[in-house]
Amino acid sequence: MVGEKELIVRKIERGTVIDHIPAGYALHVLKLLGITGKEGMRIAIVMNVESKKLGKKDIVKVENIELSEDTVNRIALIAPTATINIIRDYKVVLKRKVKIPERIEGLLTCINPRCITNQPREPVTPRFRVIERNPLRIVCEYCETIMEHEEIIRQLIGE
Ligand code: CTP
Ligand code: ZN
Repeated sequence: MVGEKELIVRKIERGTVIDHIPAGYALHVLKLLGITGKEGMRIAIVMNVESKKLGKKDIVKVENIELSEDTVNRIALIAPTATINIIRDYKVVLKRKVKIPERIEGLLTCINPRCITNQPREPVTPRFRVIERNPLRIVCEYCETIMEHEEIIRQLIGE
């Protein structure tokens, strides 16, 4: 809910608004979506604006896209507080909070080079258990190596 005074960027007609992103993470979310700005659709990135729930937050608005389930799951690992709003005809037709699953399978690789999941001859799918949500920390179910949020983000956006 924003009054006239607070409106920073205008509403979009159709597309997706990723709201309640922790402040400072909007660019990671954009990178995850593979959006560079050269695609042509209108994009708004709002950073470090006031939020009742988070203190400060970022928002990413992209016109004319809707996100796959897989993408939403990846966004959860980058921005666990995010809300995905689908906009059609200027209205929010669907609003959902992203959700970090208890177990993460396949999306990430273990940082321990000696982990069984990193042995080329053993096709073992990496699997992690979430041990902390804020900040996100996960543990490898095979070798117990802990991975921190920054490492998780690095893997997801390929840097
Ligand atoms: N929004 C938009 N264009 C629209 C409708 C909504 O860009 N046509 C944006 C709003 O600016 C807001 C987000 O989508 O950032 C969610 O909109 P809305 O549900 O109306 O806002 P809130 O009630 O503040 O959402 P929440 O309860 O999730 O905080
Ligand atoms: Zn491991």
